[in-house]
Amino acid sequence: MDKHLTQLRKIAEVILADELDYQVLLNTMEEYKTLLLELSTIELEDIANRKNIQSGNGVAIGTTWAARCVDDIMRTRQFIRGAFKAVDDKLDKKEGAVHVLYAGSGPFATLLLPLLATYSDHQLQLTVLEINPGSVAFLKKVVSKLGFEKYIVKIINEDAISYKIKDAIDILISETMQHALVKEPQVPIMLNLVNQLPPSAIIIPECIKLELAYMNINRIATGTGDRYKTINTLLHFNQSFINHHHPSKNIIDKSVELSISDSKAFNKIVVLTSIQVYQNEWIKYDESGLTIPKILRPTPATDQTLNIKYVLGEIPGYEVAN
Ligand SMILES: C[S@@+](CC[C@H](N)C(=O)[O-])C[C@H]1O[C@@H](n2cnc3c(N)ncnc32)[C@H](O)[C@@H]1O
Repeated sequence: MDKHLTQLRKIAEVILADELDYQVLLNTMEEYKTLLLELSTIELEDIANRKNIQSGNGVAIGTTWAARCVDDIMRTRQFIRGAFKAVDDKLDKKEGAVHVLYAGSGPFATLLLPLLATYSDHQLQLTVLEINPGSVAFLKKVVSKLGFEKYIVKIINEDAISYKIKDAIDILISETMQHALVKEPQVPIMLNLVNQLPPSAIIIPECIKLELAYMNINRIATGTGDRYKTINTLLHFNQSFINHHHPSKNIIDKSVELSISDSKAFNKIVVLTSIQVYQNEWIKYDESGLTIPKILRPTPATDQTLNIKYVLGEIPGYEVAN
């Protein structure tokens, strides 16, 4: 157990290093994954672990796919860095332990295990919500093998979209999303949980920004430059938006003017995602699977007005009309 704690702390150190050495990060995430697989004894090829759970509000991905999220190394790095900073900020401001609610932990609670190895249980307490019973079972095994029970208030096998919060929560963390917020239930989960929290609670991610843009698919992804040209901001999905959102309204419902003089050098209309995990910890365009462009349609041959709606339901996503 001590060996595993030392290993997790070293992983935390690499993640927290401000200078990014990509190769070192890659090796470290590989080591992290190996440790998680060893502790949980998950068989990634097992068909039972590959079953998604489809609800009326999006898909909860199967245990294998949730386990594999660790492979998205910039995502994992940035979320863990944001979580460390948020806990530090809360510890500065309050007496006693910081209580984190983790909605959609997967089988490993990947985004928080390095924190549990670093803080004491007097500093950090954790409630976990996970809809997939298979993932919950593996998570309990990991927690027990690491001797982390003392950090756990509860591991709850319930739907975060309808869950009623019973405790005073300082930080909410949830990464239940795909690029452009399609398919998975990040939006309904945050709408339910954030509206039950006080304004002082920290939300991770702090803001998911969606922009409509032209893309030239033939230019490489450098994160900047003329692969994209932004047309309009579609959404800042943050605490303020959630608190002011009326459930009868669509999350996005916008009319946007497209002009062929602007789109000449481009061939697709896309939704771009960038994620402010917490404060200056960002995941920018194309840095992660969560921030690759979502292609809506080819650029039009004539000037036109596009109506774009983001609609919740079984498959959260876009309705585009002109
Ligand atoms: C994208 S995975 C992320 C796993 C892990 N947090 C990580 O970052 O590596 C999302 C997880 O959220 C869970 N989930 C999806 N919808 C949920 C819901 N409505 N309530 C609770 N958990 C949910 C899925 O089962 C899955 O384990």
